[in-house]
Formats: sequence, C-alpha cells, structure tokens
Amino acid sequence: MTDSSAAPGKFITFEGIDGAGKSTHIAYVVALLEKHGKTVVSTREPGGTALGEKLRALLLHEKMHLETEALLMFASRREHLAQVIEPGLARGDWVVSDRFTDASFAYQGGGRGLERAKLEALEQWVHPRRQPDLTLLFDVPPGVARARLDATRTLDKFEQEQADFFSACRAEYLRRAAQFPERMVVIDSTVSIEETRARLAEILQKLL
Ligand code: TYD
Repeated sequence: MTDSSAAPGKFITFEGIDGAGKSTHIAYVVALLEKHGKTVVSTREPGGTALGEKLRALLLHEKMHLETEALLMFASRREHLAQVIEPGLARGDWVVSDRFTDASFAYQGGGRGLERAKLEALEQWVHPRRQPDLTLLFDVPPGVARARLDATRTLDKFEQEQADFFSACRAEYLRRAAQFPERMVVIDSTVSIEETRARLAEILQKLL
C-alpha cells in the first residue's frame, strides 16, 4: 500500500475492438488501484453522464450518417470531460474510462472511413490539452473477438459489423499505438486472463 494523498490522479483508458476482452480486465485494474489506496472513478464512453447515456442509446442502436455519429461521440465526450473526467482528476482521483478518443479514430476513422483530419479537428476542439496518462489497448484478431462476443446477447449496431470493419478498426488502433508509444501499451489479449492480469499489474506498477 502506498499513500496516495499527495499524488495527483491519473487518467487511464481501455481500448480494443468489441470482444477483445477489455471489460473483463477493467474490474481487475480498478480493484488493483483501490488496493493501493487510490480513489477511482470508473466510467465509460459513449456515456458516463446522464446526457451521455442517452446519446449512447442512440449511437448504439440508431442508424445515422457517419459524421453525425462522430459528432455525437464527441458531444458525449465533451459532457463527460466537463462532468466527470476533469472534476475527478482535479480532486486527485484516478479516472478509468472504458474507451475514449482512440475509439473514435479506430471506429469512425478506421472502421467507417471518416477522414482523420476531421477527427483531429474534433479532438482539438473538445480536449486540446487532455490526453490519457495511460491507454491499455487490448489486441486480438477479429476472429477471436467475434468468438468471444456472447452468442446469446443481442448485438448492438457496432457489434453487428463484419470482420473487415473490425480489421480496419484494429489497424487504426495499432497505428495510433505506434504513433503514441509514450501513453499507449498494446496488450496481447489472446493469452489467458491470468497472464493478462500479470502483465497489467506490471504496467500499472510503473504508474503507482
Ligand atoms: P463497448 O464499449 O464495447 O461496450 P459494451 O461492451 O457494453 O458493448 O461499446 C461501445 C461501442 O461504441 C463499441 O462498439 C465502440 C463504439 N464507439 C465508437 O464507435 N466510437 C467511440 O468514440 C466510442 C467511445 C465508442
């Protein structure tokens, strides 16, 4: 256990294509941080606020123009930053978010083909000075991810996409990981849950 009272909080984001296994590992990371005495705010995108959750329902279930989708993702993000992320970090809490802007580059950019310059403009508008301190990118081939999506649950709009969509999302995620090595760590998510946990503990140790 370490005393965290004087240390500022960190912003950690989780990324990966649907079925990559990130949800399984978020709870583990939150518990690990709390064990080290951190106050953790666990949140998600799209969503994380009352308004954001309404936008999420639209984004995950309604067909819409590609640019409308990107704009609503960033509208949800703007609210999330204002209501949850920035206040949490200002208090010294650790903010753990299931997805953030890398997902917009991967899904709306890589997957749907929106020009990168438009996403960069939105990023500059919505959070010109804020980036995650650490982004954990859970990486698996789309075939493995698909097999992991629970066959019994109703798949949302994104989860219904085909393998080539997820290959393009994954390629963009990996491109960004190569572009931002100071904050992004690629985690091979084809291995066992125990092996991944050991890797996560090792990575987080450096931040604690
Ligand atoms: P996800 O985080 O995978 O939640 P769940 O496990 O409950 O399905 O679902 C969010 C979906 O939203 C996911 O398919 C990716 C998509 N998404 C984008 O397309 N762009 C974004 O900017 C964000 C944050 C998410």
